[in-house]
Amino acid sequence: MCGIVGYTGCNQAAPILLEGLSKLEYRGYDSAGLAIESEDKIKVVRAKGRLHVLEEMTDNGRAMKGTCGIGHTRWATHGVPSVVNAHPHCNAKKTIAVVHNGIIENYQSIKAHLQKKGYQFESETDTEVIAHLLDSYYQGDPIEAIAKTMVRMTGSYALGILFFDQPGKVFAVRKDSPMIVGSTPEGNFLASDVPAILKYTKNVYFVDNMEIVSIGADSIHFYNLDQEEIEKEITTINWDAEAAEKGGYEHFMMKEIYEQPKAVQDTISPRIKDGEIVLEELGMTEDEIRKIRHIYMIGCGSAYHVCVSAKYVIEALARIPVEVDLASEFRYRDPILEEDSLVIIISQSGETADSIAALKEAKSKGAHVLGIVNVVGSSIAREADSVLYTWAGPEISVATTKAYSTQLAACYLIGIYFGKIRQTITDETYQELVEELMKLPDKIQRVLGDKERIQWFANKFAASKDIFFIGRGLDYGTSLEGSLKLKEISYIHSEAYAAGELKHGTISLIEKGILVVSVATQPELYEKMISNMVEVKSRGAYLMGLTCYGNYSMEDTANFTIYVPKTAKYFTNSLAVIPLQLLAYYVATARGLDVDKPRNLAKSVTVE
Ligand code: AGP
Repeated sequence: MCGIVGYTGCNQAAPILLEGLSKLEYRGYDSAGLAIESEDKIKVVRAKGRLHVLEEMTDNGRAMKGTCGIGHTRWATHGVPSVVNAHPHCNAKKTIAVVHNGIIENYQSIKAHLQKKGYQFESETDTEVIAHLLDSYYQGDPIEAIAKTMVRMTGSYALGILFFDQPGKVFAVRKDSPMIVGSTPEGNFLASDVPAILKYTKNVYFVDNMEIVSIGADSIHFYNLDQEEIEKEITTINWDAEAAEKGGYEHFMMKEIYEQPKAVQDTISPRIKDGEIVLEELGMTEDEIRKIRHIYMIGCGSAYHVCVSAKYVIEALARIPVEVDLASEFRYRDPILEEDSLVIIISQSGETADSIAALKEAKSKGAHVLGIVNVVGSSIAREADSVLYTWAGPEISVATTKAYSTQLAACYLIGIYFGKIRQTITDETYQELVEELMKLPDKIQRVLGDKERIQWFANKFAASKDIFFIGRGLDYGTSLEGSLKLKEISYIHSEAYAAGELKHGTISLIEKGILVVSVATQPELYEKMISNMVEVKSRGAYLMGLTCYGNYSMEDTANFTIYVPKTAKYFTNSLAVIPLQLLAYYVATARGLDVDKPRNLAKSVTVE
C-alpha cells in the first residue's frame, strides 16, 4: 500500500525523504514522488515504477534544494500506475501539495462539485480532489482549511500537506490510516510507518483519528477537528534501526525466517515468570476469564490462519468454544456476540482495514476486544480494550513469517493460561506445557538446520503448476499457511484442504506427478492422514510428508519426508510451518521472483 514520509528541519529534505521512502518499499508501490518547498515554488517530481527512477531523476535528491518536503510511494487504487496519477497532487497554482494514503469514497461527488466551480483535474485519482478542495477553503489558515476539507470527505486517509505560503511547515491528518510524527533535534518527521524514520528517531507521536498536526523544524502542534490545540504524549519505539535492514541476507524474508527463534523467545519469555504464565496485559481478572462463554478469533490472511490453528489449541486447553472468522466477513455479517464473549483480533501491522472494522463491530456490541498485534501504537493496539504484543520486531517482507510464529506463540500462552485458570488442564499438564513452550525457540532453530534438503526439493518442483497441501486438525491450519506462503511469493496455484475433505471433490484435481504436501504431526490423526496420502498417491500424486521425528513409517508412503522435532501436540504448527516457509522461499527464488515484494500485494492492507 502507499507510503508517506515528510521532513522539515535543518538538513536537505529530498535525500532524507528518498531514504525514508526506500524503507517503505516493502509495503508495495508502483510509482513515487516528492514535493519540496523551494524559494519560489513547491517543486514536484514524480516517476512511475521503482524508487530508483525517482532517485536518478533527482540525483538521489541532491538536485532538489530545500529543507521541507513530503514524499510518497503510491499503490494504485484509482487510476493506473502513471506519472500523472502519482502523488504529490497539487492545486492549479501549485501552491498546495498533497500526498495521500487511503481512499476518498465520495471523491466523485466532490470532484463534480469542484468542476462546477471551474476546477480542472489532470489525474484519475481520488487524491487530486483533496488538493483542490483545500484550495477552495484556504484563506491563509491551514488548520481551518484542513478541518473543513476533512468534514467533506468520507473514507480513509492519512495526508501530508505543504502550503507554499507556510514555509518550513508540513501538515498532516489521519482518519483510519496510520500516521506518526517523529521528533529529533535536527528537525521533525512525518511517516505512515515506523521503519521510514527509525534511523533518525525512536521518539514518536501517534496521530489519532481526525487529528491535525502542524510540524515545524522545531515545533509540533496537534489540533482537533474544532481547531483547538491538544496535548499529546510522546512514545518511544523499542525497535532497532538494524532490525529493518537486510543484515547480509539476500532477502528480508530469509532474514525474518531466521529471526523466528528469537522472536518467539522474545514473545514468550517475558510472560513466563518462575514457571508461571503472567498475562496481566489481557486486562481481565481470573473471574472474568472463568466467565468467558465464547471466543471469536478474527484476522486476515496469515493472521486468520493463526486463528484457525488457535481454535484447536484454545478449545482443547480451555474448553471454550472458539469461532473463527475472516475480518472481511465478520464486519458485515451482523455477528451475534453473546454476553461474556471475548473477541481476539490478530494483526501484525495493526492497521489492516478489515480487521480494524471488525474490531469496531465487536466493540459496538459490547464485547471485550483483545488485540494480538506486532506494531506498537498501531490502530488496533490503541483501539482494542487490551493488547498482547508480539515481539517480532519490524517485519518487512510482504510474506509474513516471524509475525505469524509469534502470533501462534501468543495464542499458546492464552490457551494454557486460560486452561489453568478455568481448571480445564491439570497442574501437571500446565507445568509440562509451560516447559515445552520454553523449548520451542531451540526446536525452531533445529528445523532451520534442514534448509539444504528443502532447497534441493524446492528446486525439483519449482516449475509446478499446482501444489496441494493437506492436513487434519492443527495440521490443517499449518497447511493453509504453507499454501498461502507458496502462492503469494511463487505465483504457483496452490490449495490447502482438510485431508478428510479430499474425497468430496478436490481429489478429482489430482493428476500424475502433482505435488501434495501432507502435514501429519498429530498423533491421533496420523493413521488417518496416511490413508489420505495413499489415496492421492494411487492417483499419481508425488508426496512430500511432513511429520515429527519418530514417525518413520511416513517413508513407506511419502516420496520425500521432512521431520521436525517432537513437541507437545498443540505446538507442532510452530515447527511444521518452518519447512513450508522455506519451501515457498526456495521455490520463489528458483523461479527468479522478487520474494520480498510479490506482485499485486502490499504488506499492510490499509484499504478495504
Ligand atoms: C501473509 O503472508 C500476508 N502477507 C497477509 O496474508 C497478511 O497476513 C494479512 O494481510 C494480514 O495482515 P496483518 O497481520 O498486518 O493484519
